[in-house]
Amino acid sequence: MLRQPLLMLSRSEMVKDLVTAMPVSSGIVSRYVPGEATESAVEATRGLIADGLHVTLDFLGEDTVDRAQADATVAAYTGLLTALTDEGLSRNAEVSVKLSAIGQALPDRGEKVALDNARVICQAARNAGTTVTLDMEDHTTTDSTLSTLRELRKDFPETGAVVQAYLHRTEADCRDLAYEGSRVRLCKGAYNEPESVAFQDKHEVDKSYVRCLKVLMAGQGYPMVATHDPRMVDIGGALATRNDRAQGSYEFQMLFGIRPDEQRRLAEAGEKVRVYVPYGEEWYGYLMRRLAERPSNLTFFLRSLISK
Ligand code: FDA
Repeated sequence: MLRQPLLMLSRSEMVKDLVTAMPVSSGIVSRYVPGEATESAVEATRGLIADGLHVTLDFLGEDTVDRAQADATVAAYTGLLTALTDEGLSRNAEVSVKLSAIGQALPDRGEKVALDNARVICQAARNAGTTVTLDMEDHTTTDSTLSTLRELRKDFPETGAVVQAYLHRTEADCRDLAYEGSRVRLCKGAYNEPESVAFQDKHEVDKSYVRCLKVLMAGQGYPMVATHDPRMVDIGGALATRNDRAQGSYEFQMLFGIRPDEQRRLAEAGEKVRVYVPYGEEWYGYLMRRLAERPSNLTFFLRSLISK
């Protein structure tokens, strides 16, 4: 019931100003975001890798309509990749990029700016011996993001994409993307989407997730099973076995701070597990999406706001 209002608030500048006056160290924020500085992200990465996990890092930010901010985001990613290399972490840590943070939403030739910026990040990732995965945002950007992916893959075929099981179109997208060399992160989807494009019922989303997983596991690509849902994790493992996939020919992925014990349990069982680590000052939209997934955290969140 609270999911939709929280997702609407995730785009409110007024509430954003109120909430972001809260320090990142306050309980609810630091549960999901290890910090604002590159050093905090690198430190969190080091700890996760020491525990046998892999990492993908997201420099937080989205819906940028300012060219300078888009360029600053690119610089943050290249700086991060240099820091990961210097610390000897880049073999086990890649980056996740939202195209709307690097120019896609700019009014003038946004898609082209985002593509050029993404190329710079892909080249920096390649120099660091690692990869980039393009996050997927709301449905109005899906075609643009997939077409940018196709362009990027001409020069950087290691680039991965995210697809969202709640969209009606995604099973067909999975078929298109299940080719050799492709890397596809399947998640349920975190935005407020209309009935015309997305399943609204949780059970329907779960059924779609399983159909998409079947396509990806039977295909030639590298499936990345991004979910905290114990049933989806079990089904992912069973489908891998059914398709004769060895451990490491697919991976599980979860968000920083969510089911950390399960992340370690899977890794100890020999599975490849990657943790998505967001960092930076622009944590508001990300935090609101996490609250929308788990409204029971709302009391904790409101308490931290009042006590600030
Ligand atoms: P579901 O929401 O059914 O949750 C299953 C269980 O997980 C819950 O019962 C609870 O135990 C736990 N859980 C889930 N969310 C929690 C939370 N916030 N706090 C505490 N516990 C929680 N989305 C998107 O639209 N575009 C994207 O690019 C990405 N990228 C992405 C990368 C990775 C690596 C992951 C894991 C997820 C994403 N997402 C995403 C988010 C995704 O779409 C989805 O919103 C969340 O993963 C929650 O869905 P679950 O599959 O975990 O199932």
